[in-house]
Amino acid sequence: MFAVLSIFLLALVSLAFAQGTPGTISEPAPYTVVAPGGVFNFSYNVHADYCKSSYAFAVYVVTESPVSMSPADQFMSGYYFGRYEAENYPAVPYPQNPAPPNLTMPNFDLPQGGFGGGNEASNSTFWVMVLEEWDDCEGTIGRKIAMAANPVIYNATTSS
Ligand SMILES: *[C@@H]1O[C@H](CO)[C@@H](O)[C@H](O)[C@H]1NC(C)=O
Ligand SMILES: *[C@@H]1O[C@H](CO)[C@@H](O)[C@H](O)[C@H]1NC(C)=O
Ligand SMILES: *[C@@H]1O[C@H](CO)[C@@H](O)[C@H](O)[C@H]1NC(C)=O
Ligand SMILES: *[C@@H]1O[C@H](CO)[C@@H](O)[C@H](O)[C@H]1NC(C)=O
Repeated sequence: MFAVLSIFLLALVSLAFAQGTPGTISEPAPYTVVAPGGVFNFSYNVHADYCKSSYAFAVYVVTESPVSMSPADQFMSGYYFGRYEAENYPAVPYPQNPAPPNLTMPNFDLPQGGFGGGNEASNSTFWVMVLEEWDDCEGTIGRKIAMAANPVIYNATTSS
């Protein structure tokens, strides 16, 4: 009985992932290996459903798992890929800047521009992070802001 229930639950979970649970990153899958300067597939499942609408989402790669929102000069370091939109009704009927199907990991060894010097990193766990603005029919003060992050392995051949 328990086994049957477990299989049923597992099937439900995989179905949810196949359809892309709102607010999750489908690609890169957790612990995907990404080389410096390497291209990786990107796919984020926006909050869009009956009575849910997504406005936009910003994508970063950051060096730490985001845990604190306390004021700080530096939470983490990383890189901003861009702010994208996905088609959904009624917030964004015609996306102006849809997310590309893949993103290019910076090579953090190289100077990052300005005084940004660059620094070597190898076999590091980084996080592809999304901050999404969405809203629903319940009513909120301003927009809801969701955060999702998947770990990726930077500059190693394997994740284990
Ligand atoms: C990335 O996406 C392309 C196009 O959908 C696909 O052919 C390729 O297999 C994907 N790569 C990975 C590593 O999932
Ligand atoms: C990345 O996406 C672009 C389309 O934006 C496509 O032309 C290119 O082949 C893709 N590269 C890889 C390595 O999947
Ligand atoms: C990366 O680090 C992990 C955990 O420290 C280790 O098990 C693994 O062997 C390392 N891989 C490489 C390619 O250095
Ligand atoms: C780590 O990055 C350096 C610089 O791009 C590269 O030469 C090296 O092959 C990379 N190592 C791995 C294991 O990806």
